[in-house]
Amino acid sequence: MSHPSPALVVMDSTGRRLYRQTDELRAGGDATRVALPGGLTAWSVTSTPMIKSLVTDPRVTRDPRKGWPGFTDETQPPWMMPWTPASMFNASGTDHTRLRKLISPAFTQRRVEALRPSVTAIVDGLLDALTTAPQGEPVDLRATFSYKIPITVICDLLGVPKEHRDLMAQVMEAAIDTSMSAEEAAANNYAMVKAIIDLIAAKREEPGDDMTTQLLDIHDDGDRLTEQELVATLILMVGAGSETAVSLIDHSTVALLTHPEHLATTRAEDRWNDVIEESLRRDAPIMHIPARYALEDITLPDGTLIRTGELILIGFGAAGRDPSAHDRRDEWDLDRTDKAHLAFGHGIHYCMGAPLARLEATVALRRLFDRFDVELAVEPSELRRQPSFIGNDYSAVPVLLTRR
Ligand code: HEM
Repeated sequence: MSHPSPALVVMDSTGRRLYRQTDELRAGGDATRVALPGGLTAWSVTSTPMIKSLVTDPRVTRDPRKGWPGFTDETQPPWMMPWTPASMFNASGTDHTRLRKLISPAFTQRRVEALRPSVTAIVDGLLDALTTAPQGEPVDLRATFSYKIPITVICDLLGVPKEHRDLMAQVMEAAIDTSMSAEEAAANNYAMVKAIIDLIAAKREEPGDDMTTQLLDIHDDGDRLTEQELVATLILMVGAGSETAVSLIDHSTVALLTHPEHLATTRAEDRWNDVIEESLRRDAPIMHIPARYALEDITLPDGTLIRTGELILIGFGAAGRDPSAHDRRDEWDLDRTDKAHLAFGHGIHYCMGAPLARLEATVALRRLFDRFDVELAVEPSELRRQPSFIGNDYSAVPVLLTRR
């Protein structure tokens, strides 16, 4: 039996209630009705089995063109636009396979491992710059270090000219801010598409040994990648490849600073992988992915009815804190054996950049703590959050650094 008129939970865009809100959503059963910015409603799904079941259900699609009757470019709210329908992120079926295959060879474990020396050089360069920071004064580790690593790595891979990079980073960061007005978000999306079109123009003029040039060649050579897909794929690569890994580095750093005994063990026993997996479990960088769409009416085990054309918001970040799966689920514990999480998603859209994100975070954390003694410059409770229910990060991580 379907629930008569479920209460509507308004998604909080301040980031301050991110975890508490996930518990409220979980309390609603298999799916809870939520209000999203832009006057939209969706079904939020937060339990691990329900997430796994729905993201692999053939009656659910990522593609708004197939699953959302009211879809037009204009009706799609701006904060859903960064990953326009033309990229693999929002594609389904053979389109998804075709688009994913164009990129996936660059992200195999082996190809990513080959990037270790260049990632290490980027990290060391940033740490060199920090050695000249005034001692004893707080430094924002996010702005000066963690934020710069993934964006530099992905811009290098895509061959983004140095003078385009600041703007690229700025528009990508704003793209997951769900607290912006519709006008601000639309202006940001315009700036983002323009930044990518400028990148394509620069590569047409001066091709390089980079992924943008390769995708441009594929586009020019045949019918495997349309103009719109090219732009959307590049937006996806910069967006997905930048914001998320920053959060992983930030959360891991704060966890180690607030658990000094675990930091000592990590250093002594080279436990960086455990640090990363536990941070992905407890503090997933992407809390909710909007949106998927029901292609048919779907009745969930508890009787909730998701009707054809309705939106589904997947709470990947909630899975790691599911109390039925994890004892002491809010505690960050290096030695925990139940570190299972869905931070990289599940099913055919599983994150393509997972090996790269893990590599970036390992190199960043190991080098940071090798070279500096680090202390939080504020109480952990004073760390401010990013204004988003999609992303999950601090907006700044003020620390005191002492050279070792
Ligand atoms: C800690 C860092 C990261 C996290 C937590 C993360 C998380 C995710 C999640 C949750 C999805 C969507 C899964 C779904 O909807 O089913 C996704 C997709 C994706 N991610 Fe990541 N990601 C990270 C880093 C990266 C990096 C560094 C790259 C690339 C350089 C990347 C590229 C992608 C791509 C291309 C997709 C779309 C895959 C598809 O639709 O088939 N991600 N990621």
